[in-house]
Amino acid sequence: MDKFDIKKIKEDFPILSQKVNGKRLAYLDSGATTHRPNQVLDAMVEYNKVSNGNPHRGAHQLSIRATQEYDAAKVKVKEFINAKEIEEIIFTRNTTESLNLIARSYGELINKGDEILIAITEHHSNILPWQRVAREKDAVLKYMYLDDNGRINKKEIEEKISSKTKIVSIAHMSNVLGTIHPLEEIIEYSHKMGAIVVVDGAQSIPHMKVDVQKLDADFYVFSAHKMLGPMGIGVLYGKRELLEEMPPYLLGGDMIEYVTEQDATYAPIPFKFEAGTQNVEAAVGLRAAIEYLENLGMDKIKAHEMHLMEYALDKILSIPYVNIQGPKDLESKGGIISFTIDDVHPHDTATILDSYGVAIRSGHHCAQPLMKYLGLPATSRASFYLYNTEEDVDQFIDGIKNVREWLGYGP
Ligand code: ALA
Repeated sequence: MDKFDIKKIKEDFPILSQKVNGKRLAYLDSGATTHRPNQVLDAMVEYNKVSNGNPHRGAHQLSIRATQEYDAAKVKVKEFINAKEIEEIIFTRNTTESLNLIARSYGELINKGDEILIAITEHHSNILPWQRVAREKDAVLKYMYLDDNGRINKKEIEEKISSKTKIVSIAHMSNVLGTIHPLEEIIEYSHKMGAIVVVDGAQSIPHMKVDVQKLDADFYVFSAHKMLGPMGIGVLYGKRELLEEMPPYLLGGDMIEYVTEQDATYAPIPFKFEAGTQNVEAAVGLRAAIEYLENLGMDKIKAHEMHLMEYALDKILSIPYVNIQGPKDLESKGGIISFTIDDVHPHDTATILDSYGVAIRSGHHCAQPLMKYLGLPATSRASFYLYNTEEDVDQFIDGIKNVREWLGYGP
């Protein structure tokens, strides 16, 4: 496709053409989950009609086809993130499972007094697993905080990462504020200090080109359902040498070499980390989703979202009773606007917007430490993706302008 034809793109997403509460649907909750285009839905149906079998386990044709489909999805992911080797790609259930796997498994290598560093902006799935490692290993969990511009600056990076730091685990882009953290700087400094870096890419990879080798990330994890793919499959990229020294996370079928009555040896990576029957149907969907994204072009997707953000920020910043949380400009920010409305609970905002056909998320966004840090119980969050239009933004802004009136406040 040589041009970003939004009308044509929207036609690929049947779910978006419906009415909600009698209104046209303006879906602004892609940070929570994205929708699947016909190309992804069709690929999964076709797989089920023609190729379903249990991969890696059978000599018959359907098992072989399922194995081929599963492996083809791995190749696609490897190319998409520019991993060096296919063995460095592990399929999990989602970002949360990938982070738990790393914390449980790499966490075994943590010793008393070691430091684990995360950011205050983290999602619970990048906090709780590290809290457990710190508790069990008598290690120290530390946080990087934000400067007045809502960003992690060089001073904070150099103050918090030291030779005691063994792991830095950070979201590439905050699911609450949309802030894109300075990964290159964090990774370079962490490596200088001898720490490895785990990147939660759930919110970033759907929206921008990611090259794990160029970034030099040690681990990079994400979920298919936030990038037009199905729920139930996630990715864990890890450098070979790290994955090889890590113990397995789940034990069972397809991850072994030999099993005796009392003992077992494990299969090489990636199989060591993929116990149990794999979700091949979802892998097929993920591959189709990546093909869809590549066909549009990640640069064009990002440009489209940034245009919508500019359009939306310009309008929302002129409403006096709306407060934006996090960066208010587009520098190092993705397609997320987190906000509060004076005197209105964010849940009321989301419910009222829903009655106008506008889908946003409200609450603590699974980031309670960040909410506490911001001094807020919750925020409302609009998140944008490639299928959103200026019309969606206009509907969102019109809805916001009606919220206070709905609740009986003056304009
Ligand atoms: N982590 C997802 C979100 O931020 C569910 O909405």
